[in-house]
Amino acid sequence: MSTIDEIKSKIDIVDLVSEAGVKLRKAGRNQTGFCPFHDNKHTPAFVVWPESGTWRCFGACNEGGDIFKFVMKREGIDFKEALNKLALRAGVEVQQIQRETPQQREAYDHLRTLLEDAVVFYRTHLFANKEILAYLHEKRGLTDATIETFGLGYAPHGYDNLIKHFTGKGYLPQDLVDAGMLSERESGGHYDRFRNRIMIPIRDENGKMAGFGARIVDPDDIPKFLNSPETAIFTKGHLLYGLDRARKPIRAADQAVIVEGYLDVIALHQAGYENVVSPMGTALTEDQLRLLKRSTRRIVLALDPDIAGQKAVLRGLEAARSAMDKEGELAFDAHGLLRNEARLQADLRVATMPDDLDPDEIVARNKEEWATLIENAKPIITHVMETLSAGQNLNDPKIKNQIAAQVLPLIDDMGTPMERDTYRQALARMLRVDERSLMAAQPTGPVLRRKPRVTESSRRADAASLANVHPRKSIEFYCLGILLRKPELLYRLDRKLEEFGLSPLALEDFEYTDHQMLFNVLRQAMGQDEKDHEQFVVSQMPEALASLTADLMTQTEKLDPLDDRLLEDLLGRFLDLRRNHAMANVTQLKFMQDDEQEQGGENLKLYIEQTMRFTRLLHGLDQAKFKLSKRQV
Ligand code: UTP
Ligand code: MN
Repeated sequence: MSTIDEIKSKIDIVDLVSEAGVKLRKAGRNQTGFCPFHDNKHTPAFVVWPESGTWRCFGACNEGGDIFKFVMKREGIDFKEALNKLALRAGVEVQQIQRETPQQREAYDHLRTLLEDAVVFYRTHLFANKEILAYLHEKRGLTDATIETFGLGYAPHGYDNLIKHFTGKGYLPQDLVDAGMLSERESGGHYDRFRNRIMIPIRDENGKMAGFGARIVDPDDIPKFLNSPETAIFTKGHLLYGLDRARKPIRAADQAVIVEGYLDVIALHQAGYENVVSPMGTALTEDQLRLLKRSTRRIVLALDPDIAGQKAVLRGLEAARSAMDKEGELAFDAHGLLRNEARLQADLRVATMPDDLDPDEIVARNKEEWATLIENAKPIITHVMETLSAGQNLNDPKIKNQIAAQVLPLIDDMGTPMERDTYRQALARMLRVDERSLMAAQPTGPVLRRKPRVTESSRRADAASLANVHPRKSIEFYCLGILLRKPELLYRLDRKLEEFGLSPLALEDFEYTDHQMLFNVLRQAMGQDEKDHEQFVVSQMPEALASLTADLMTQTEKLDPLDDRLLEDLLGRFLDLRRNHAMANVTQLKFMQDDEQEQGGENLKLYIEQTMRFTRLLHGLDQAKFKLSKRQV
């Protein structure tokens, strides 16, 4: 969930408006009161829609918006200030997303160039070293083509090979430090970080150099793997080894496989299994899963059989589930899955490696075996049950209780009642208890999970908590996502709207301030021709919208921009949005008119005018919808 969404979900617009001194009175699903922005204290013209988290003044202001707009208008501040204010109130931390400044970008590019040069440097040393080459060929079964593809290299013995080479080429020692290639002596000065190791270049998902992993050649050296230190461009938790090469295959297979070693990734790719990536010696992070999730929701974890590995996996699984939960709220696909608001389920499975073998050893003994192992990967819940019970005395009631306490919360988190039932029964069978006593054990058992668990009821509460799940919001989000990818559609949409006698797309088509602001940037981008649209959008996007923009880009990665149904789809959705908006207003205005009539209020004329305007609009929209539907058939 983005910061903005989190704030929206935590602040009740009714509370916010009430605290600003507006006395709200319930009127059906809405609440009405006197508008705090203009003077009329005669009749209430201010309406709050708690479900969508929006408000509107039908009186003199004739304006509306969400919580941000309310605070902006009330306090005369801009979006960023309102964001900070409301974040504070919601107890949400506003991430200061640092956009790369041009200077930073230049500095990072400089480091990446240096690392590319280092790849060449290490490769030269590898091809000059028959022994290491023989190890890679014979012991690891790697072909020259694979060695090339993955850019493997060799860091020679000695403490100053790299320093000498690169300072000789004009790099500063500080560059080498910043790139993570040197270590610092306690006495001052520097020396080569990587010595007598096989070098494995690590690239980001776009193929840009980020750092190195380095494996020992001498079995007595430690550590076995040495990575680049964390640098400005190398953050282990944000990168997945092999993703640059695996991204397309992952998409093609609609499945990603996560293994636990660099050389496993390389061997599997060589064997033709290219949808494989690995973390770099740390447990999986949410960021890593999010990276994968851009390409697929089907993820298989291929695990070392050792106990430490299993533990790391259980930790990884926690990260996995919470990343999926968060993203699920934003998920949609271009075919309009969005219409049904159910969370998209992630499909996470676990494949266990047999016979104490690493994945590279498995493909070495039998290529097909890998495919079978992955096909037979088990749902995580089954895996967890089996892991926890392995080697345990399941007749011991204490043990039963412990296992139940760990598994039941996971079952609780599952998406559908059917799954929950199925796995509760499976757990009961495994522990040889009946289901009722299993359920009775739940609240008292030691709960070993670190994070607060997402129960059914807390999930429902979340879902009820406002704009996050309001259809209007997700439709706006969906439409913006498409427009951000394909801003040219704006022209075409406007033209269509005009054909239908409707006004072009405007800020008022969006109810939420962040959406309005983003639309505004898009509109401006289309209205200039100094920069290309994308550049313009990137340079003009307010910092506060960085995460919204990133979410939109993520969610539309799979979109086929050539799909010509996009325009019709968008048009239909905008017509619906306008229609809903107009309908809500007409309905509301009817109530207000009645009230006003009783009291002979001064707003009557205003309300009648507005009603007529919205009714005319509704008529126009219905005609447009009708024409559109005929055209589609
Ligand atoms: P393994 O020790 O299982 O190595 O570590 P491996 O990849 O199977 O290597 P080979 O087959 O013995 O050559 C798995 C992964 O854990 C990380 C590395 O990413 C490694 O690929 N690791 C391991 C470290 O980061 N540091 C270490 O000291 C050991
Ligand atoms: Mn191995």
